[in-house]
Amino acid sequence: MTLEVRDLSIRFGGVAAVTNMSLDVNAREIVGLIGPNGAGKTTFINCIAGVAQPDTGAASWNGRAILGLSPADLLRLGVARTFQSVVSLHDLTVLDLVKLGAAAHARRGRGFLSQFFGSDKAVDEEICESLLAPLNLVDVANSPIQTLSYGQRKSVDLARALACEPQLLYLDEPVAGLTFQEGLNMGAVIRSVRDRFGCSVVMVEHKMDVVMSTCDRIVVMAHGARIFEGTPAETQKDAEVRRVYLGDA
Ligand SMILES: Nc1ncnc2c1ncn2[C@@H]1O[C@H](COP(=O)(O)OP(=O)(O)O)[C@@H](O)[C@H]1O
Ligand SMILES: [Mg+2]
Repeated sequence: MTLEVRDLSIRFGGVAAVTNMSLDVNAREIVGLIGPNGAGKTTFINCIAGVAQPDTGAASWNGRAILGLSPADLLRLGVARTFQSVVSLHDLTVLDLVKLGAAAHARRGRGFLSQFFGSDKAVDEEICESLLAPLNLVDVANSPIQTLSYGQRKSVDLARALACEPQLLYLDEPVAGLTFQEGLNMGAVIRSVRDRFGCSVVMVEHKMDVVMSTCDRIVVMAHGARIFEGTPAETQKDAEVRRVYLGDA
């Protein structure tokens, strides 16, 4: 259950968005990926999520090469993601959207939700109990997404990804746009998700208090490359990290 990324690089025309980036993520580990705007964090995640095709490098999940696989292929291998910007799919309710995620997962032919398919009510109850309750979404289960706050929509996007029962979860700025309190809650939810589902997490995030309290290990990127890796405490103390990032955060 490990992710191994080696020397991944991608250019957009003249821009070297990511340069020789490597990353290891162990089973049940929450790794924070931080760095200034434009550092290449989202591009890096896109490369290992089947959205962008790197120019060079290698990546494997549980020993299986994953570069070139589509997001759907990755989902079948247990890799899911959330998005930096969450759209409001106007008519869908929270339950509808999460069920879409669960249905994608059920097609993989296993999982705790698939056994409930065939009885709508039982599916709804199972989703409410196992996914919506930990994310404080039970009260809005039947509300259209467009009526929710931005913070609630971020939680719905996380519930949708979790409905796929991922073993590896990429979170791109799960706390961006949330209030201070919502952000701290989300950090706690991410840790409880890891404890409950036993998944590994790679989390891109700007809010340092949340990163520090949520992540087991932190990797710092600047100008497309890794400049530091360490525990949250080591990261906060590092002079170079403070200079390029924390100082201006
Ligand atoms: N599709 C694209 N086309 C051209 N340049 C891009 C594209 N995506 C990202 N970039 C550039 O790559 C660099 C890294 O961007 P990004 O990965 O979004 O950084 P971060 O997520 O760390 O803020 C930036 O200079 C950005 O302008
Ligand atoms: Mg980004």
